[in-house]
Amino acid sequence: MENKLIIKNASELVTCSGFQAKKGLEMNELKIIQDGAIVVEDGIIKALGPTDDLLKLFNEEDYHVIDAKGKAVLPGFVDPHTHFVFGGYREEEYSWRLRGDSYMDIMKRGGGIINSVRGTNEASKDELIQVGLKRMDSMMGFGVTTVEGKSGYGLDLDTELKQLEVMQALKKQHPLDIATTFLGAHAIPPEYKGRSGEFIDYMIDEVLPKVIEDDLAEFCDIFCEKGVFSIEESRKMLSAAKEKGLKLKIHADEIIPLGGAELAAELGAISADHLLQASDEGIKRMAEENVVATMLPCTAFSLKEVYARARYMIDEGCAVALATDYNPGSCHTESIPLVIALATIYMGMTPEETITALTINSAAAIDRADEIGSLDVGKKGDIVIHEFPSYKFIPYHIGVSTVETVIKEGKVVYTK
Ligand code: NIG
Ligand code: FE
Repeated sequence: MENKLIIKNASELVTCSGFQAKKGLEMNELKIIQDGAIVVEDGIIKALGPTDDLLKLFNEEDYHVIDAKGKAVLPGFVDPHTHFVFGGYREEEYSWRLRGDSYMDIMKRGGGIINSVRGTNEASKDELIQVGLKRMDSMMGFGVTTVEGKSGYGLDLDTELKQLEVMQALKKQHPLDIATTFLGAHAIPPEYKGRSGEFIDYMIDEVLPKVIEDDLAEFCDIFCEKGVFSIEESRKMLSAAKEKGLKLKIHADEIIPLGGAELAAELGAISADHLLQASDEGIKRMAEENVVATMLPCTAFSLKEVYARARYMIDEGCAVALATDYNPGSCHTESIPLVIALATIYMGMTPEETITALTINSAAAIDRADEIGSLDVGKKGDIVIHEFPSYKFIPYHIGVSTVETVIKEGKVVYTK
């Protein structure tokens, strides 16, 4: 009974079934089972189907049973782009931005990412673990069962490793899973001002080998942007990481159309993220090379930028994922309901595409579509019960979470 769970009578079992990213209009297929049930044993989905059929095959008395009558049951959300491990906050900068200063202006004045680098440097490992746990609790309340987390508030060997080690510790202490990303090239530290090329060499020669040696990250990412790291520097950093066995991500074409989407396609990145300014050619190349286009609408909202062209990307055959980009600067929110509201209202995404973008496609954005992101036999039992009878209430209840119960690998980890 301990590790055996049946959820029955779900008015909709929204499976999002699949083992790879859904591209283009295929994103609208949610593969719903009406009046559905699902069986989880030892953390893994064992069976699913109409309740009547399933209860003939499995004896309820042997299971912990949850009756989901009148409720929609979905895969846990996957948040595939966050920077949730950091010390200190930047509430002062936020108020400057509300008065009209731009994100890049604040960065040029020595604020921005460098401000969080100071805060993270000063924080002890234990302090970072404590705030990390709280933030993960909050994400879990929004129905997130796996989150990606990046380093990048160190920019030197010790603090980059500290951030990644904190995430390794958090994996053991919290029910959520974490995919870890090395983002050593997130900004140019003051001591390397005007010498970004040398900083990239330092990251490649001194920091990357240690990240690999200690097995601290699965992905490597870089902030490819005018005034930060160029296309050539990004190619150099990401190629070195790829050679050492890391999978690739890239902060691409956020503020200026530099060609980051094209670079992601060239290097076979798993995902390219932001993409507010991605070119038509870059979008075409991402669709061809199966690079997941990860949209971060809360960042565009918070920075008062244009939104990424999700509608165009989907129509051009891309696989689109959605993420919060939770971080202390450009986007201080872990709110999945806000992501959904912006994606549907401002980016032209349908409710179905939005759900796909936060489940199977966001799992694909962290290269885990084979184990999470859908309700399929053999995948992890990461399941969320929503308080309304249809998934259509998820966007419709604007800005409010519909999450009632969160199940991680077959165990209830959160109830409203
Ligand atoms: O994804 N664009 C760069 N990195 C983050 C912002 C980090 C920060 O402001 O602290 C982002 O938006
Ligand atoms: Fe980011």
